[in-house]
Order: sequence, then structure tokens, then C-alpha cells
Amino acid sequence: MSKTFDIGLEWLTGGAREASALAGPAALRALPGGSRGTFFLETFGCQMNDHDSEKVAGVLLSRGYRQVESPESASLILYNTCSIREKAAQKVFSRLGEFGAEQKAGRIIGVLGCVAQQEGEDIFRRAPWVSLVCGSASYSKLPELLAQVEAGNRRVTGLDTDTDETFETPVTRRDNPWRAYLTIIEGCDKACSYCVVPYTRGPERSRASDSILREVRQLAELGYSEVQLLGQTVNSYADPTARKMKFSELLLAVAEAPGIRRVRFTTSHPRDFSPDIVDAIDRQPKLCNHVHLPVQSGSTRVLRAMQRTYSREEYLEKIALIRGAKRTISITTDIIVGFPGETEEDLAETLSLLETVKYDGVFSFKYSPRPHTPSLAMRDAIPEEEKSRRLAVLQKKQREIQTSKHLSMVGETFETLVSTKSRRENQWSGHTSCHRVINFASQEPMLLGQYVQVRVTGATPNGLSGEQAP
Ligand code: 5AD
Ligand code: SF4
Repeated sequence: MSKTFDIGLEWLTGGAREASALAGPAALRALPGGSRGTFFLETFGCQMNDHDSEKVAGVLLSRGYRQVESPESASLILYNTCSIREKAAQKVFSRLGEFGAEQKAGRIIGVLGCVAQQEGEDIFRRAPWVSLVCGSASYSKLPELLAQVEAGNRRVTGLDTDTDETFETPVTRRDNPWRAYLTIIEGCDKACSYCVVPYTRGPERSRASDSILREVRQLAELGYSEVQLLGQTVNSYADPTARKMKFSELLLAVAEAPGIRRVRFTTSHPRDFSPDIVDAIDRQPKLCNHVHLPVQSGSTRVLRAMQRTYSREEYLEKIALIRGAKRTISITTDIIVGFPGETEEDLAETLSLLETVKYDGVFSFKYSPRPHTPSLAMRDAIPEEEKSRRLAVLQKKQREIQTSKHLSMVGETFETLVSTKSRRENQWSGHTSCHRVINFASQEPMLLGQYVQVRVTGATPNGLSGEQAP
């Protein structure tokens, strides 16, 4: 999930960073550091990248580095990059451009993540002051690569994607003190024709279920109460151990760890979304009532061109499964407009899908041609202006849907995990199980990290407002 989302930004980001700035993760406070120098790490892109950065920061802290908040005061500068759309990929080159001639002697600059994988050694040509280029599939080698950089090697690469390893480290410096991300499957074996991720993140690799469960128990002991399981296609999880735990069994086992109150998972692929996942949510209230199920388009013709492996009707069958649950499960999605050859009729089908499903949130994007993807060669590109028009039409419709949904929630009470204290007196903010942001009033002196009942008194397209219920 990218931080560039247009609608429902608060849905998946929700001010967690402000919260961590207030409280500070216990692991970070416990770690000494600084003997090797200082590092600055900036992250672009999705939650997987956010979490990779938490692990990279852990590796650096355990090597004796100290984290600083600005590149100026750092001896090691790292950018963890995103290349899902062109704009995101360009950002890193504009950051790198800020160095160049002014590059301080002895300062090391590294590019990590999807742009590193996508551009490879070409980055050294475009920005010769970069010393480290490392894609996410090589993060398990990061300690070795850092040792090479520290030894003075100025052209260090980790670009191998032919791996069955996952990136696990004993020290992860998590940003949020209450909700912990946990990657359970890396890479992607799907082949959506527009998407660069299978190229940049490599093939699917699932983490061993016993190792996941061990970490969840440790997280609970450290005080984390919400766990968010991550993967590009999280529900394609395939336990590599003899136990062969199914994804739904893993969800239930994670929820049973003492101290865990909420379990989330993202992103689900419709093809692998099976009824047992809904059964698990029905059986175990700790499994949050929210599913992110990207559709990308409401037109079967476009879905076929996108190589999404399902039709509109098959997708709607998955929605029916979720709607058939005993609890109301909120559903969010991703949509791309302006895919090559998308007609007015195709767009109308996407708009009618919005009406049919009545999503709780939509992350919508203009199609962006990416290197190494099949759709790059497709004809009938949609002009940029037209893509913008289509995006605006889609977002307007979704805003109306969300507004009326949220208005219908006025008067209801939701359990909320409080993550932010507003600058305004007695104002707090948190997430419901269905992953809505609620801003609310309370006279309590300290609520951060607590679960409180909040009664909804007002609604906007992107969230709810309310007051702590007595
Ligand atoms: N152009 C626009 N959006 C894209 N996404 C993935 N690739 C592209 C692209 N080339 C979107 C999809 C995906 C989300 C994470 O980013 O909607 O679900
Ligand atoms: Fe990209 Fe498709 Fe894989 Fe998602 S499922 S990461 S959109 S290739």
C-alpha cells in the first residue's frame, strides 16, 4: 500500500508515525548504538517496504549505528525505494540528485528496494556517488554487503532474485509500539501484466509457520497487541514446513497467541481467497473484520488484458463469500484506470462494480507503464489527461459511497485502538477493527495504545468522529 493513495489515505496510514514519535518503540530505546556512525533511512512505497525498513534499521542498530532524523547529520544514507508507478520511482533520483558534487567525503549512500532491483548497476552510472544497490530479495545478505561497504568498497550490489530465502532478523526496529507488521510471504508469483513487483521482489517465498508463531509470541510479550501479516499476495501463503499450515489456520494460530487482540492481513489476491478465510474470521473475533481485495478493473475484458486470472463474475463470487459472513466485514480495493485499450464501456463497468460492491475504501491509480512488464508493449495508450478525468470520475463516485456509508454509522459504537493524541486538547485518534480512522474526544489523561469504546457522532468521506462511550 502506497502513501500516495488518493482516497482513504487515512485508512492504512492513520497517523501511526506521529504515535510512535510520541511513545517511541521499546526496542529502539533499549538498543545502544553510534559506535560505527549514524544512519538516515527514508522509505517510499508500501507497507512491505515500511516493514523491510524496520528490519534494515534493526540490522544497522545491531551493527552499532545510531539512527538520525536528517541526511545532513548521517554518515550512511539509505533510500528504500518503490517503483510501482513512475512518479514513485522518480522520487529517489530527485533525492540522489540533491547530493552529487556536494557529497561529503566518507559519506556512504545506498539505494535499497524496488528501484535498486529495477535499475541495478545503472544507478552507479546515473549517480556515481552511490555505493550500495540492493534489492529486497537480497536483504538477508545485508550484513555482508554492509561489511563490504564499511571496508571501503564503493560498488556493492545485492541484486540476485533467484532465492528461496526470506529476510528474517533477530532485531527489528518497529515504528509503531502497538501494531507490529510481520511479513509472512515475500515476492509474487502472479504475473499481472502492468506490475513490476514480480521482477523487483522475485518469486514467492513463504516463511516457516513455526518461526512466524514464535515471533508473534515474542511481539505479544513486548506489548504489541495488534499484528498485521504482510505479503504482496498474503493469502497465497504456503507453509514450507512439514506442518503445511493453511493460511486460515495460521490466522487462527496467530490470534491465539496470549496478549494478541487484533490480527490483520494484507494484501489478498482474489484467486486465492477461499471460504475458510471467512470461516476463520467468523470463528475468531480477534481476526479483524476487514479484507483488502484488489479488483483493478470491473471489466472482464480489461481483467483479461491485465492477466488477473479472474473475471468480474468470479470476483463478485468472492465478494459474496465475504458478504455472507456472520459479522459485517469491510472491504477495500485497488483500482487502476486508463489501462491500455480501456474504453468508456470498460470504465462504466468499473463504476457499476463500485455501486454493486459498495466498497468501504478504494485506492485508485492512473495506469503507469513500467519497465519489464508485458503491458509496456501494449498499444492504445490512454492519454494522460483522459486518465486524470477517469480517475476523478471514479473518485467522485467512491466519495459519495463512502460518505453515505459513514453517515449510516452515526450512533454506532466501535472498539478503537488509540494511536494518536491530537494537538487539540482532549482529542484522540485510532482505528476500528474494520480499519476506519476515528477522531474522538475524551477527558482521559492517557489513552495511547489502549482499546476504548467510541460512539460515532459525525462522518466525512474518509473517516468518522465521535466521543468515548461511557
Ligand atoms: N500503474 C498503476 N498502478 C499500479 N499498481 C500496480 N502496478 C501499477 C501500474 N503499473 C497498483 C495496483 C496494485 C497497487 C499496489 O498498485 O492497483 O494493487
Ligand atoms: Fe503485482 Fe499482481 Fe503480484 Fe499484486 S498480484 S504484486 S498486482 S503482480
